[in-house]
Amino acid sequence: MAVSQAKVVAMWREVLALSKLERGESAIVLTKPESNQRHIEGALAAAIDLGAQVFTMQPVIGDMPLRANRCAMEALKGADFVIDLLGLHILRSADKTLKVNEKNEVIRRGTRVLYATEPPEILQRLMPSADDKRRVLAAGARLAAAKSMRIESDAGTDLRVELGKFPVTREYGYSDEPGHWDHWGAGFVAVESNEGTANGTVVIDRGDIIYPFNSYVQTPITLTIRDGYIREIKGDFDAHYLRSFFDKYHDPEAVAVSHLGWGLQPKCDWTALGILKHATNGNDGRAFYGNFMFSTGPNTNAGGTRDTLCHLDIPMLNCSVYLDNEPMVVKGQVIPADQRVPGR
Ligand SMILES: [Fe+2]
Repeated sequence: MAVSQAKVVAMWREVLALSKLERGESAIVLTKPESNQRHIEGALAAAIDLGAQVFTMQPVIGDMPLRANRCAMEALKGADFVIDLLGLHILRSADKTLKVNEKNEVIRRGTRVLYATEPPEILQRLMPSADDKRRVLAAGARLAAAKSMRIESDAGTDLRVELGKFPVTREYGYSDEPGHWDHWGAGFVAVESNEGTANGTVVIDRGDIIYPFNSYVQTPITLTIRDGYIREIKGDFDAHYLRSFFDKYHDPEAVAVSHLGWGLQPKCDWTALGILKHATNGNDGRAFYGNFMFSTGPNTNAGGTRDTLCHLDIPMLNCSVYLDNEPMVVKGQVIPADQRVPGR
């Protein structure tokens, strides 16, 4: 059912209040031409109501990358808070001489960033809470201390990676701390494996999701992974499709193993994609409680140098995730008491 605009404003007020947007703080609503107008108006109204000094910015014109727009970048870096309806973290340029990651550049001096892209009808269901933050930070602390991750499944996944080189991503749905980037509707932890250390097999099983294909896999795909890269893709239709997708990039980094983690958001609905198709950005799958998320491609968001335009997020069901042999998720069930939702 459609959410009223009054409700959209109320939702933004709640999530910006959780984000500690306060009277007198400077805030920018960062947009692109196709940004959801209801979010633009809702975010502005809520930020004004909270007393922030707020304005909208739509900086991407034609083919000019945002990172090359000095004036826009300085404004974003100088703000206390950026309501990101554009997607700073997914801006990528084929011009690899521009060695700037917009998201990292903006948060470096303490700007808080909250990204929102799902329609209000999804975000109403995925309103974040302080308890989401508590559980995600508990998972993040455990992941930050880990030296290895092992992932297994009855479908045949058996992957081992080494950890410790890259910072942990903690997404809990709002941005309340200096320099924190977050995503409304999220709820998971992830980390880049140390380059070249991923080895084993990943079986993307029937019913798992590949984003941005925004579709459920129908035929299992077996990936053979050696020294950090997918070396072989076996299976039926879905495997052929995936191989063809990678091939068109003509980029060996496209098949690198990227961030790995698990979902902690119990409000996510695995079946939502079946109805919403490309009307969703995929938070329901990416943050689904107890998933394992495998991904491919770049590690620049985590401060690495592996830059590629090809990036897939692949949340999977019924997997087990171990850190240094300690179970985080077993067959899709979150195990540590400080990460688990009571009653789940
Ligand atoms: Fe990703």
